[in-house]
Amino acid sequence: MTEGLNSLKITVLNDNEPGQGLRNDWGWSVVIESEKWKILFDADTRSDVIEYNTKKIGINVQDIDFAILSHGHLDHYGGFEYIGRMKRGLKVYLPENVGILETWGLETIVIEKPMEIVENVLSTGPLKAFSLREQALIIKGNGFNVLIVGCSHPGIDKIVERAFEMVGRIYLVIGGFHGPSKKQLDNISRFSDFISPAHCSGNGAKNYVRNKFNEKYLMVRTGSIIKIPF
Ligand SMILES: [Fe+2]
Repeated sequence: MTEGLNSLKITVLNDNEPGQGLRNDWGWSVVIESEKWKILFDADTRSDVIEYNTKKIGINVQDIDFAILSHGHLDHYGGFEYIGRMKRGLKVYLPENVGILETWGLETIVIEKPMEIVENVLSTGPLKAFSLREQALIIKGNGFNVLIVGCSHPGIDKIVERAFEMVGRIYLVIGGFHGPSKKQLDNISRFSDFISPAHCSGNGAKNYVRNKFNEKYLMVRTGSIIKIPF
């Protein structure tokens, strides 16, 4: 019998929206903590932003157990240069090779298909957007499934649907939705209890979710801390 996770804490290290007292640029990076591990999901564009914000927020990079890269765009992997300096050999699970990560001292592991990385932590596996591959992260808790996305180039609704097929209803979906259509947002609302459009989602998507699905909308920005379950 497997033991589930009782709670999660998500800290937004950087989002496009600035946060008081923190550095900020265009990018996305969050740390997810449970009673069993700490995971870094994406690492923003700039090392100096990640260095400053981790120190200011009080996250010790040495405590990170492994990392996930959603896809090979600079606004998600740039800050791994600092992570590699601070924790050589840290494992980074990614959907296709990004050669520079190894030169920064990180160990890369390519995810080929949907899989469990450690107990209750799953990758959706790569979804395609033309030649780009992107994965998202699913955390299975006791009574809640959390889906963390990077930029959603393959379509946020496609990613949510895959996650739903893998684990069932989604408690919270958070991350960059890549300027989604209203139809895409309507689709994900059917599978998700809470929706947190961030990074490249755009104000149009944020306003649409806030107005149409107000009880589901969760606003985040650089420095936000989310404790789950609410
Ligand atoms: Fe992005």
